[in-house]
Amino acid sequence: MLIRNERPGDEDAIHSLTLSAFEPMAFSDGSEAPIIRSLRASGDLTLSLVAEKDGAILGHIALSPVTIDGIHNNWFGLGPVSVRPEMQRRGIGRALILTGLEMLKERGARGCALIGSPDIYSRVGFESDGQLSYGNLDRSYVQWIVFSGPAPRGELKFAPAFEPEGHTSQHT
Ligand SMILES: CC(C)(COP(=O)(O)OP(=O)(O)OC[C@H]1O[C@@H](n2cnc3c(N)ncnc32)[C@H](O)[C@@H]1OP(=O)(O)O)[C@@H](O)C(=O)NCCC(=O)NCCS
Repeated sequence: MLIRNERPGDEDAIHSLTLSAFEPMAFSDGSEAPIIRSLRASGDLTLSLVAEKDGAILGHIALSPVTIDGIHNNWFGLGPVSVRPEMQRRGIGRALILTGLEMLKERGARGCALIGSPDIYSRVGFESDGQLSYGNLDRSYVQWIVFSGPAPRGELKFAPAFEPEGHTSQHT
């Protein structure tokens, strides 16, 4: 399996992969795939990596800038991340996440944050100490990994593409 940067022409495969991975998820509002398109359009898709095997895209991860208490400070957000439903639980998500984190580090990032299940992300090095918030969300879901500097404290905010008005949630 190859993990590589997205290339022109991958956009539709990434969109349908993301729709199919999130479709069965009760927590999903279907916004993840349009968010990726919107991040790309607004220049906020810092990294967009695909996992490819035999020419087929099996997984994808997006990384984009975030702010903490309004300051970017070289922190990034992880997600959406998706793996084709029939290919999940085989290490593809882990490989995408670890490669994405390495590439962020190489770019001088200070850390990476996400909203997600501690069950999954604690297994790839993320943690939560309750000091990083995201609205009223249970803070155990607001997780981070530090590359350099102090642990993050304050309110996490993602790129505008993640705001309801920042993308169109039509499944195209
Ligand atoms: C989440 C997702 C990207 C993980 O990719 P994956 O290839 O299935 O995950 P991996 O096989 O690499 O597993 C990575 C670790 O997470 C754990 N994990 C993966 N899915 C899990 C789940 N649903 N519940 C609990 N743990 C899970 C694995 O056990 C593994 O840890 P381990 O190696 O210590 O056992 C993938 O399952 C997916 O696309 N899900 C649907 C979309 C989604 O929910 N995205 C994330 C939103 S927060």
